[in-house]
Amino acid sequence: MPNNSLTITDNRTDRTYTVPLFKDTVRATDLRQIKTQPDDFGLMTYDPAYMNTSSCQSAITFIDGDKGILRYRGYPIEILAEKCTYLEVAYLLHHGELPDPSQLAQWVNEINSHMMLHENTKKFMEGFRHDAHPMAMLVSTLAALSTIYPDARRVNDAESRRLQCVRLIAKIPTIAAFSFRHTQGYPYIYPDNELGYTENFMNMLWRMVEPKFQVNEVIARALDILFILHADHEQNCSTSAMRAVGSSQADPYVSAAAAAAALSGPLHGGANEEVLRMIEEIGTRENIPGYIEQVKSGKCKLMGFGHRVYKNYDPRAAIIKQAAYEVFEVTGPNPKLEIAKELEDIALHDEYFIKRRLYPNVDFYSGIIYQAMGFKPEMFTVLFAIARMSGWLAQWQEMISDPEQKIARPRQIYTGYPAREFVSIELRG
Ligand code: SDX
Repeated sequence: MPNNSLTITDNRTDRTYTVPLFKDTVRATDLRQIKTQPDDFGLMTYDPAYMNTSSCQSAITFIDGDKGILRYRGYPIEILAEKCTYLEVAYLLHHGELPDPSQLAQWVNEINSHMMLHENTKKFMEGFRHDAHPMAMLVSTLAALSTIYPDARRVNDAESRRLQCVRLIAKIPTIAAFSFRHTQGYPYIYPDNELGYTENFMNMLWRMVEPKFQVNEVIARALDILFILHADHEQNCSTSAMRAVGSSQADPYVSAAAAAAALSGPLHGGANEEVLRMIEEIGTRENIPGYIEQVKSGKCKLMGFGHRVYKNYDPRAAIIKQAAYEVFEVTGPNPKLEIAKELEDIALHDEYFIKRRLYPNVDFYSGIIYQAMGFKPEMFTVLFAIARMSGWLAQWQEMISDPEQKIARPRQIYTGYPAREFVSIELRG
């Protein structure tokens, strides 16, 4: 398209520039030519929190926020959640294609054979306080893994990268389970390779003295679906952290620790824990209108609502809501679900939320279902991190292999002092 460009007139100089469009974007560096003086730096873009900035090209996940569409490698999330296992989806994110039976069997076997943690890592984890938050334990232990696998520093070696990705996907459920067992004062349970990935995680979490963990298939399948729903979500805050830290060629263990740290924030992956606390604070359906008024007066946020991209219903929230019914069939009715549904119904009909296009996001129902499964709120974001590990690593791999990518280093608008004379300490004050 010949006119696939912008014509920009700089009213300061009356000069006109033609800037090519690239996939419906303007390359920010093309604005540097716009100057008032030859030795000017030239124009930059200014976009706090990256509200309207593409940081990369990616073929992994597609989101249409207005239509509520989410696809991994072109497959709708609804189909993947219904037809696949989490490891099958992790394979898809990494390899770009769904595995055939032998590829899946080999992938599952390889992941299974890496679920154990080095005994040093176990001892490292034993050093945490008994009431340490499992998410903080996870972040720290992910970083500590880089001391066990120094070969991970060879980030330009494709085989080393692949092996580290397998190790991280395999070991994060073990770290998560050990973190939980530590907070409960229980002995650690080692992986049982006769079990599937999610069942094995449940085994390491909940097996006590019985010789073999008895899997509840309904809970296991619901958890596997939740892992699929949380596996990737294009350039969210934690994935951006993974890409930024990885862009300095730091190893994938410390990069994943940075991503998990970003995820822990209550505005991001920490929201599911906050949703449950919010619902417990509301307590009864009678208190909902009062709480909604507090939100509308800006005193607090409706946790689990709103999204930077989705300005429609988060497709994941709808699937989780459905999965919740299946879980409650097994665990019994949960009054918190009724409060959540009433909260959603009131919010979706209230002008404050309609005007701001605030809908339930992935975190709104996930906390309720996790609690029904037997997880404590402190574990909710840890569950999110287990699932998102495959997405973080697929995005990290894509970043490393992208010829356009280099160390992430944004610029700024300087608002500080101009150059000024130094004042020695005797003359200060
Ligand atoms: C995740 O990016 C991803 O993809 C993330 C994620 C993923 O899979 O990786 O989807 C996972 O992080 C989901 C989001 C979980 N967080 C929460 O549920 C926390 C509550 N939500 C908000 O904090 C907020 O909606 C964000 C952080 C999710 C999005 O914030 P934005 O895009 O920066 O929007 P904003 O803060 O500019 O809000 C726009 C307006 C503001 O009102 P005004 O100033 O215009 O009057 O909407 C209001 C906000 O105050 N608003 C809310 C609200 N969210 C936004 N008001 C009440 N309750 C809320 N939840």
